[in-house]
Amino acid sequence: MVLLSKVISISGTISLKQLSLDDTEEFFNLVRANKDDLRLWIQWIDKCETLEGTKAFIQKNLEFPEKNPDASKQLVQFGIWENGVLVGGFMIEENKTNHSAQFGFWKGSISAEKGLITKICVKLITRMFKSTQFNRIEIHCAPENKRSCNIAIGLGFQFEGVLREVELLYDHYVNHNVYSVLRREWSNRLEQYDKKFT
Ligand SMILES: CC(C)(COP(=O)(O)OP(=O)(O)OC[C@H]1O[C@@H](n2cnc3c(N)ncnc32)[C@H](O)[C@@H]1OP(=O)(O)O)[C@@H](O)C(=O)NCCC(=O)NCCS
Repeated sequence: MVLLSKVISISGTISLKQLSLDDTEEFFNLVRANKDDLRLWIQWIDKCETLEGTKAFIQKNLEFPEKNPDASKQLVQFGIWENGVLVGGFMIEENKTNHSAQFGFWKGSISAEKGLITKICVKLITRMFKSTQFNRIEIHCAPENKRSCNIAIGLGFQFEGVLREVELLYDHYVNHNVYSVLRREWSNRLEQYDKKFT
């Protein structure tokens, strides 16, 4: 992945770290504790029903870049650590050919940080546009998933349209709203963020 490092510092208390097998138990417990909320919107939750399943899920994600170094799409699953405790997950799928990336995210109820996911997105997008070749970042979410859509809207992403029944979520198909921001648009957004939150 062109992207950054395995550990990304977001603030004094928050960091992203690529999930490793050592995180299996903490990840399993967090997903299990928040299963009912997460399963409404996330496809892979049932893979983490057991410790073995969770280990296999993490392992598969770790192996993909090693086994497919030439694939144009690479995916990294990060854990979100708040004061050293795992509180959520952040997925980045990079499209190397087109210099674009897609974000996915979730957090457990134990996170106390207000605006956690928004803060992470701001830091990451800024870093990706400043120090890498990325030109476009996307967020996809079901139109009914208001909190998730609100993150993209709050970040000033542009709504591009709807992918119809693009995801099979257990027993039904869901649409995805597609939101994006381009490198050339981001510096204006960042100024607004600096004024609002710092
Ligand atoms: C999607 C999900 C991560 C959104 O969580 P969230 O708490 O709404 O998102 P954030 O952490 O960015 O917090 C947003 C709030 O913080 C505020 N905020 C944003 N940046 C801030 C900052 N820098 N400082 C203070 N507050 C801030 C926002 O105004 C917003 O406030 P509100 O909730 O009162 O409207 C969460 O609902 C979840 O895990 N859902 C289940 C999984 C899921 O749906 N994943 C997405 C699949 S597409």
